[in-house]
Parts: sequence; C-alpha cells; structure tokens
Amino acid sequence: MKQEYRLISSAPKPFVKWAGGKRQLLPVITNYIPQKFERYFEPFLGGGAVFFNLVSQGRDSKWFVSDLNSDLVLAYMTIRDRVKELVSSLELHSTNYTKNPSSYYYKVRESSPKVQIEKVSRLVFLNKTCFNGLYRVNSKGKFNVPLGKYANPNIVNKENLLAVSQTLQSKDISIKCQDFESALKNATSGDFVYLDPPYHPVSETANFTSYTEGNFGYQDQQRLYSKFKTLDRKGVKILLSNSKSDEIIDLFNEFSDGIVEINANRFINSVSQKRTGHTELLIKNY
Ligand SMILES: C[S@@+](CC[C@H](N)C(=O)[O-])C[C@H]1O[C@@H](n2cnc3c(N)ncnc32)[C@H](O)[C@@H]1O
Repeated sequence: MKQEYRLISSAPKPFVKWAGGKRQLLPVITNYIPQKFERYFEPFLGGGAVFFNLVSQGRDSKWFVSDLNSDLVLAYMTIRDRVKELVSSLELHSTNYTKNPSSYYYKVRESSPKVQIEKVSRLVFLNKTCFNGLYRVNSKGKFNVPLGKYANPNIVNKENLLAVSQTLQSKDISIKCQDFESALKNATSGDFVYLDPPYHPVSETANFTSYTEGNFGYQDQQRLYSKFKTLDRKGVKILLSNSKSDEIIDLFNEFSDGIVEINANRFINSVSQKRTGHTELLIKNY
C-alpha cells in the first residue's frame, strides 16, 4: 500500500516582537471577534498577532493587512516571496553573532544595507538580539536600541518563517504599506476591521508612539475616530484597542456602550502575589 505523506507546517506566528504586540492579549481579544465576516482589515498590523491567529483558523475570508512602517512591510513581502534567501542571510548573522555577540551586534546596528534581503535580515536579527526585542527608531529614523541580554536568541526561526511564507502566499491575502485611512477606503457592510493604533499616552512619560519616523499624535486619534464613525455608518463591524485615557474615553463617548475594560497584566509577581500591569480598552460598535 502506498503511504501518504502530508506536509504539516506549524501555525504561523509573529516573526518579530513588536511594541504593543497583542500576543499575550489574544485569549481576551478573540472573545470579541465576530463569528462571521466577509473581509478582514487590519491597518495597524505590527507583528500581526491577531491576523496570524485568525488566518490560521481556516476561515473563509479575504484579508487586507497593512502598516505605515515600510521596513516592516518589506519584511512581510520578503518572507512571502524570498524566504529561503532570507533564512540563509539570517543563518550567516547567527553564526557571526555566536562568535562575538556584542561587537557583531553593534556592527550590524551601524550598517545600513541597501539590498532587500540584507535590509530585512538586519531588521529581524536586531529584533531578536536587541534589548527587550523592540523595534524603536530615534528622531532621525535610526535604530538605537542597545544589545539585549539573551543567552541564546532564536535568530533563525526557520519553521515559523516557512509557515508565515506559506500563509502569505495565499491569493486571498493583500499586504500593503499605507496609512490607515487609505487602507479602509473600501471596507463595507459585512466586513470586520481590527484597529490597533499606537496608543494615546496615559501620562507624559508613557509615550510609546515612535514606531515610525512620524509620531501618531492626538490629531491622528481624531482622524481614527472619524474613520470609525464613517465605517460604523456603512455597517462595518469595528473593534479598536487603545489606552484607558480620558481623551480616548471622551473621543469615543458615542460608543460608550461598546467599551470593555481589559486587564493587560504582563506577569504576576509570585513573591508579593501582586499583579503588575494596567487596564486598557477595547471599543466595539456591535
Ligand atoms: C500597536 S502597533 C500594532 C501592534 C500589532 N497589533 C501587534 O500585535 O504586533 C501599531 C502599528 O501602527 C503602525 N502605524 C503608525 N502610524 C500609522 C498610520 N498612520 N497608519 C497605519 N499604520 C500606522 C505602526 O508602524 C505600528 O506597527
């Protein structure tokens, strides 16, 4: 009897750790995702925790994902189209890093490759080895995070890169680099939109809005609110994550029935039995 072999790849997961990443909040967020939708829009994609979770559930949908960060979007496209070359380039980074982590890290940090594969492998490499694993650029658009304290960083997660690549090759998925307003132009009744913008800061010091070279300020939150309203009128289902700040609560006052407070505990301190973390908001119109 002929034996059949099926290629089973693991479910795709974010290939970079991203500021504001939603991986830990997935169990909560997925409770609020509608059972059915025609098309899915996620215009603040980041690491794509929510998108990867939904797309690997085998839902019958079309997926429109985007982000304004062009380096990040280039990484998605490169993984989709040229994953083997990317893996080879990352393997080289991994070998060199093992020989002398600190000097190699800072050498790569100072470099500014122009070739696509090298640009993307630099981004992934720095993301895996930098302090806190967060992509952050300074006002001049330079990556300025120091070396992290990882004993054995997983620089080449080949299995996941292949799973992401395979997933993104679907003709039902569109990935673009664009502002959220253009991304949502065609969303209409029956569609579902998940919005995870840079959060409005809760205090002066908690400003995590420098993902791109331009900040996402209060005017952008207002622009987002106005898009939320337009989509609501069209019959689109919308779920928005944001900080629990007075400005956001005021701005979305009209949708106050759909505001849910969620606990974003980062970890539980087992010694003091105290929870560390904060409350944030999910705002929905359904
Ligand atoms: C909170 S992060 C999204 C995190 C993501 N949900 C995850 O799980 O990793 C916000 C994202 O919005 C992007 N962004 C900032 N301004 C934008 C704009 N005007 N239009 C679209 N995307 C924007 C940033 O590049 C960043 O990736």
